[in-house]
Amino acid sequence: MSRSVSILFVCLGNICRSPTAHAIFRQKAIAENLPVIIESAGTSAYHEGAKPDARSIAAGHKRQYDFSDISSRKIKEQDFVDYDFILAMDHDNLAALKRKCPDEYQSKIKLFLTYSSQFADMVEVPDPYYGGAAGFELVLDLIEDASDGLIAAIKDKLKN
Ligand code: 4NP
Repeated sequence: MSRSVSILFVCLGNICRSPTAHAIFRQKAIAENLPVIIESAGTSAYHEGAKPDARSIAAGHKRQYDFSDISSRKIKEQDFVDYDFILAMDHDNLAALKRKCPDEYQSKIKLFLTYSSQFADMVEVPDPYYGGAAGFELVLDLIEDASDGLIAAIKDKLKN
């Protein structure tokens, strides 16, 4: 493995779903000794500089994930150059990314749940912000599953 793979997780506010993906995927990648660079961003600046939502942190802490160094930032032009994988949590954010992204980098952008295997009927990580605790648990379940799929895909990529 001669180089690292860089991954940017993207949602709307970068306080619920994408920081959760950031924390979960990072932990799984470290456990697998994968050479990855992981970040997260929002398509909006609504929560620029804010820590992840307290409900995301509480739900994630129960599963031992660490959010302590994560804070919200908006996607920027340079991200399309810097990251190998730019993974959107839902179709709205996918569309927002595709609108901003130069043609040459469009193929980097995908829905994160492309990598899910246990939730065949789900294509988006639903926004939990206006809902209850069950929504935050579902976010964790979906992201854990898609992270396992992404780890497998990256292992494959690094073999070639
Ligand atoms: P996220 O959730 O995109 O998963 O971080 C949201 C956070 C904030 C808002 C919407 C979604 N908001 O409208 O402020």
